[in-house]
Amino acid sequence: MSVLSGKKILLGITAGIAAYKTANLVRLFIKSGAEVKVIMTPASKDFITPLTLSTLSKNPVSSAFYDKEEENELWNNHVELGLWADYMLIAPTTANTLSKMANGVCDNLLLATYLSAKCPVYFAPAMDLDMYKHPSTKTSIEKLQSFQNILIPATSGELASGLVGEGRMAEPQDIVAFIEKDILSTLPLRGKKVLITAGPTYEAIDPVRFIGNHSSGKMGFAIAKTAANLGAEVILISGPSHQQIQHSFVKRIDVKSAENMYNAAHQYFNMVDIAILSAAVADYKPKNVAHQKIKKKDATLEIVLTPTKDILASLGAIKKQQFLVGFALETNNELANAKGKLARKNLDMIVLNSLQDKGAGFATDTNKITIIDKNLTESSFGLKSKTAVAKDIMNYIVTKINA
Ligand code: CTP
Repeated sequence: MSVLSGKKILLGITAGIAAYKTANLVRLFIKSGAEVKVIMTPASKDFITPLTLSTLSKNPVSSAFYDKEEENELWNNHVELGLWADYMLIAPTTANTLSKMANGVCDNLLLATYLSAKCPVYFAPAMDLDMYKHPSTKTSIEKLQSFQNILIPATSGELASGLVGEGRMAEPQDIVAFIEKDILSTLPLRGKKVLITAGPTYEAIDPVRFIGNHSSGKMGFAIAKTAANLGAEVILISGPSHQQIQHSFVKRIDVKSAENMYNAAHQYFNMVDIAILSAAVADYKPKNVAHQKIKKKDATLEIVLTPTKDILASLGAIKKQQFLVGFALETNNELANAKGKLARKNLDMIVLNSLQDKGAGFATDTNKITIIDKNLTESSFGLKSKTAVAKDIMNYIVTKINA
């Protein structure tokens, strides 16, 4: 999955021959899962039609401060467009637009939006080689870089003039790869490895029966996705769960029992920086597993249970640099129980959810948590979707590991 998935990209197109390549650029962004809106300078419409771009982007294309409808005039809100975007890309950027951007000139919708945008702005110049080399162009580029705008350098090749040299807009696939790489390098968990346990465990009674619990795995999977979106390499050890995850940064390992989960967690723990144990691991398992299906009899059946290994506590006992996070699902005496677990299992932080809170806990789409850190500082959060809770948890961890 691309880091651009779910991101909002505002593509500004100016009047250069390379504008014809933006059709492909829009397609590549859409393919990577991004949402795209296009703004064109009026002159760029001579090179590619708004209809092509609105068809490919599935969004209206704006180019003027207002659209003249038959009866009324519709104002295009450049501030709204600028704030909508997660990333803005101006491609191609002509020498003219480059100079205007560098000097705060605001004579079209694209420039007004550029001045209103708060997001990272990428620009991909395209012009003839002598124009690209001109000190005035170089000064404009440097000025934009001093505004923290990001240059996607022009490449060398055949130019529209027939000359050969530097000034060709980077190819659409290279622009997308450049932006993806740049975004990745700025993600807070880039280069970090995170181990996550999720879901229930099943403890076999016989070949067809087990002891399990109602955990859906939703919370752990949401945490895995969030951590991956923040740039981490995730090892997700999941008990039996119907949850799906598709992310190139997530390696999923399916396990069944607490013993399987213990072994997998220990196999990877040494190589990770952060471990988040959100699985609802069975505390007990049948002492003896019948090799054949247990037959029905009239008498009562007693199954002797024996404790499973506590994965979290065992990792707490051997942890070195790892930031170790546990969960506590409590029904009473919540804070005291959670703090007890934090200390006993040698954790850096614990996420408490109380079954007394409506909408918290197993198999729901929502959760309500309190985070307690090593210094016993408590932070409480409202009832939210598990995706939003995962973001709160990961943001908290990012702040802690960078503190
Ligand atoms: N946990 C674990 N291995 C176990 C049991 C629990 O790794 N065998 C982890 C869970 O993933 C969770 C934390 O320990 O992060 C707390 O789980 P919980 O069941 O609330 O705590 P227990 O220590 O089992 O205590 P109790 O059930 O008595 O509340």
